[in-house]
Amino acid sequence: MTTISSNPPPTPDFYQYPPAPIQRAEISPEGDWVTLFWEDDSVLACYYLWLQENDFDQGGIDRATREGLLDPAELVLEKKIKNALIDEFGHLTIEWLAGPVAHFNSGWLKTLAADHHRAEAFIPPCIPWRRIDLPAPPQHCAQQVQKDANAMAAWLNDLARYGVTLLVNAPTQPEFLLAFSESIGPIRDSNFGRLWDVHADQALAGKAETNSTANTGLRLGPHADLPTRQLPPAFQFLHCLRNETLGGASTLCDSLAIIEHLKAHQPDDFNRLTSHHWIFFNRGPNLDHRWSGPIIDYSNAGRCPIIRAFYPVKAFPDMPKKDIPGAYQALRRFQQLAASDQFELRFTLQPGQVLCFDNHRILHGRDAFSMQGVRHLQGIYIDRDEIDCRTRVANRLADNHATPSEER
Ligand SMILES: [Fe+2]
Repeated sequence: MTTISSNPPPTPDFYQYPPAPIQRAEISPEGDWVTLFWEDDSVLACYYLWLQENDFDQGGIDRATREGLLDPAELVLEKKIKNALIDEFGHLTIEWLAGPVAHFNSGWLKTLAADHHRAEAFIPPCIPWRRIDLPAPPQHCAQQVQKDANAMAAWLNDLARYGVTLLVNAPTQPEFLLAFSESIGPIRDSNFGRLWDVHADQALAGKAETNSTANTGLRLGPHADLPTRQLPPAFQFLHCLRNETLGGASTLCDSLAIIEHLKAHQPDDFNRLTSHHWIFFNRGPNLDHRWSGPIIDYSNAGRCPIIRAFYPVKAFPDMPKKDIPGAYQALRRFQQLAASDQFELRFTLQPGQVLCFDNHRILHGRDAFSMQGVRHLQGIYIDRDEIDCRTRVANRLADNHATPSEER
């Protein structure tokens, strides 16, 4: 039976971990490593300087902020491990060659052995999809997501897996999206504003100035927004307030599935799309956003490459002259695949729905529509850091891996 300490060693975060008694500890002959073993065959090797950094009692971690205090220049190379003891509760005690002992929480150490400290932890892996795999975006109830932690986790997990979800049963009040999105995390501003309108209205046709093709009734082929930025916004939410026009179906496709196809069937095109740069350029009287990058950009890739594929702002080839014909050929094929029945799904966005998608991964578009009636969407951008943060928190709470500590 596990004995639970009423006062376990603190952890360098604000979570309380279930007890995970360490079975045994082995020190390397030089005293610079201690390897920990658990009954379930989990293993964790800890370097002595890393243990110094996480030693509360010697000032390695600040108790108020739980952040590291040790400048690496101040690490003591001679302070090696003399002994490693497992206390009666299964926690680790380190005796150094010099100085007071250090205590480490077994539950926290076990999470490291399980790789739960990695960036990808608590976020479901991507599932590439074609139309046959995902004929419609996974639906979640906006009201449930707002009030229920499990519904929030389910929505965020589908967004991570498929890169797209459709929230339904949302109100149709303007600016609902602002409050909803800010409950997830800080939204990302741009020259379009924090909350931007996609507004097509017959009464305004030909009168209002527009700063984007989005505000016309023209078709928008498969694209991803703001390739003119070094780091385009990773997620986009589009809230439908009114849609009374004819046509204007929304389109979506998954670049990860297209990349799989290209690698298997058209590797030369894949190489051109990932290596030849184009200059993307936002036009405007007082704007000069520009960036140069390939259509499939792995330079900043985490979960997926960044797709830079918004032809209205793709301005110039940025490659040797000899590469230009092949680059155009590859880009034309890429866009044809993105709009093909094999990869593209099509649906009509209804009032009270919020389309949420990964703007690095998913290409979105819409059919042309008549300017009779009103079509009014509101959108926001939000960065991956905020979505990933909320997903990790939702999943670690839902899975009961750790609970927030009441101690500050
Ligand atoms: Fe767009």
